[in-house]
Amino acid sequence: MIDDPVLLNDWYIVAAARDLADGAMLSVRLWDEELVIWRDDGQVMAWKDYCIHRGAKLSLGRIADGTVECPYHGWRYNAAGVCTLIPAHPDTQPPAKARAVVYRAVECDGYIWVSLGDPEKEPPRFPEWSDDGYRKVLVGPYNYHGNPFRTVENFLDAAHFPFVHANINGDPDDPEPIGDYEVFSDEDGVRTGPIARFQPFGDHRGIPVTAYYQYNCPRPLSAYFEKDTGEGNRFCTFMAVTPLAEDDCLLWVQIAINYGFDLPEPQILERQDTVYNQDKPIIESQRPHPLPLDLKEELHVRSDKYCVAYRRWLKELGVTWGVSQ
Ligand code: FES
Ligand SMILES: [Fe+2]
Repeated sequence: MIDDPVLLNDWYIVAAARDLADGAMLSVRLWDEELVIWRDDGQVMAWKDYCIHRGAKLSLGRIADGTVECPYHGWRYNAAGVCTLIPAHPDTQPPAKARAVVYRAVECDGYIWVSLGDPEKEPPRFPEWSDDGYRKVLVGPYNYHGNPFRTVENFLDAAHFPFVHANINGDPDDPEPIGDYEVFSDEDGVRTGPIARFQPFGDHRGIPVTAYYQYNCPRPLSAYFEKDTGEGNRFCTFMAVTPLAEDDCLLWVQIAINYGFDLPEPQILERQDTVYNQDKPIIESQRPHPLPLDLKEELHVRSDKYCVAYRRWLKELGVTWGVSQ
């Protein structure tokens, strides 16, 4: 288990809620902890994927009568993680030690979130999730063999658009400068005022737009932007990174759009896949993997103001895993 209370006591996405049916279970991972998640009567459970009897993976078993049945000797664990039946001795009360290792799990805004610690807050919210005026599309997850914080920082960085997303989010032969923008920072995270970006292929409509981005980063590994392209058109993106290792993570992305309802979903997904797969090799190439929080490391220019604020905020929070001091 990682030795970083700030990160440990937070929530991370382990699955899309739609992928976990009632009475089903899934094997997932958070850092190096293998987990089994399952659902019974709508309630979501997340346990260490481990049976205390002989160490078999519970996720290889099955759900039976509202319990998880271990694949090896059929011990059954109820929703509280308590062993209720040892089939070899059906008339004997299982020992008190026969329990699953139970973690916190909750369903929120289309995802299953897990904490391996004791979080004070709820999972971060996607503001447009419950707004019917928006079409929601789940994309990814994308597996980046790169650093989780560098993945978030890439999401917060508007200066890479013309190069990494050439002719989509910017023009590499005529890259638009970044004007001054505001950054706000407090204990609820780091945010920006509007940042203007011209985009030749601004969204799934395939038309040029001037977009005004406003970013928000409420947690070390989750972030959001709203992109205003005029006439009340808003394209919002929620992202959250599930840390697996210092150089391995899953990026979950969900978008909410209040225009272009006639455009087919595959058109939206295709553009998202293109963009996030363009970021992947860049993030995977960044060395060293840990994000440097010492601002004397790497070189910062005016347009990096937001990413610098992100690094400062991580340092203030006391994040130690996945970063260098
Ligand atoms: S290992 Fe799970 S019942 Fe034996
Ligand atoms: Fe990008």
